Amino acid sequence: MLILAIETSCDETACAVLENGSKVLSNVVASQNEFHKKFGGIVPEVASRKHIEAINPVIAEALEKAGKKFKDLDAVAVTYGPGLVGSLLVGLCAAKALAWSLKKPLIGVNHLEGHIYSNFLAVKPRFPFICLIVSGGHTLLVLMKDHGKYETLGRTRDDAVGEAYDKVARFLNLGYPGGPIIDQLAKKGDPHAVTFKKPMIEESFGYDFSFSGIKTAVTRLSGVKIEDLAASFQQTIVDTLIEKLIRAAYDKEIGRVALAGGVSANSALRQQLKERGEKEGLEVMIPPLEYSTDNAAMIAIAAYYRFKKKQFSALDLKPVASLKI
Ligand code: KG4
Ligand code: ZN
Repeated sequence: MLILAIETSCDETACAVLENGSKVLSNVVASQNEFHKKFGGIVPEVASRKHIEAINPVIAEALEKAGKKFKDLDAVAVTYGPGLVGSLLVGLCAAKALAWSLKKPLIGVNHLEGHIYSNFLAVKPRFPFICLIVSGGHTLLVLMKDHGKYETLGRTRDDAVGEAYDKVARFLNLGYPGGPIIDQLAKKGDPHAVTFKKPMIEESFGYDFSFSGIKTAVTRLSGVKIEDLAASFQQTIVDTLIEKLIRAAYDKEIGRVALAGGVSANSALRQQLKERGEKEGLEVMIPPLEYSTDNAAMIAIAAYYRFKKKQFSALDLKPVASLKI
């Protein structure tokens, strides 16, 4: 059972081939970072054009690395939202053309679901669990009860976590994307050098988040060593995220928690959640590093569970920029 998946929701052109819902035969990710760097963020028009240039070579490379041909495929999966509409459209057109010409089912996948399913590239799915999705566009706390069954517990009221990292990095002229750069700098700094207020940590805020305040607070400081600033900013964010995730697990009496999304690549978040989970006796799922940031293997595995239930999409599937989970 072979699924080829395509992911173009943001600034990564990605294609993967997955065998029997468990073995990643190939996982090709062409990053556009070089082109967006000079703007300190993604330029949607540039992203669409770059996807058009990259899509066919990326698909060809994924098949070649997998040692498979188009005729070997059983289904074609694609991200149809949320994301930049022009970017999504490129992946969708390619996937539809493939599915139509091969006469194989098309499976549309929600990008956020894909992030959650990236965990199942490492461990077998077991339910229920509470998942913290932290990416460049989203910060969501979700209770996942079964395949396709979600209850959203909380979300950010302003910036997403990754967005706050990227904006702070841009303000400090550190480069793009900011997450990995601040993560590295933070390793050389003192996380207690500056005290930031943990945003919306009080129980009265429930499971909602806010990251624009701390972003502004960082940009107002001067005279602090950049490593200390990075470490203190990061520690405040990690503390806040872990606190809310663990609180939700206790409130809902669920002994299993998970991370997902690009910020789940953060070394401090991974390490500290692991330690906290051990201390609290909670099972912790963290996606393998290579599947944390945007990729198509996560889309393929989410599609695999849809394929098993014959949940196929029509060939007129449209991109949905603000698709919800
Ligand atoms: O999931 P993702 O690849 O794309 C979206 O769906 O948005 O997430 C990208 C975000 C960016 O904001 C990036 O700065 C952040 O993930 N990120 C990190 C790290 N690696 C990527 N944030 C903190 N620490 C990291 N190591
Ligand atoms: Zn993503």
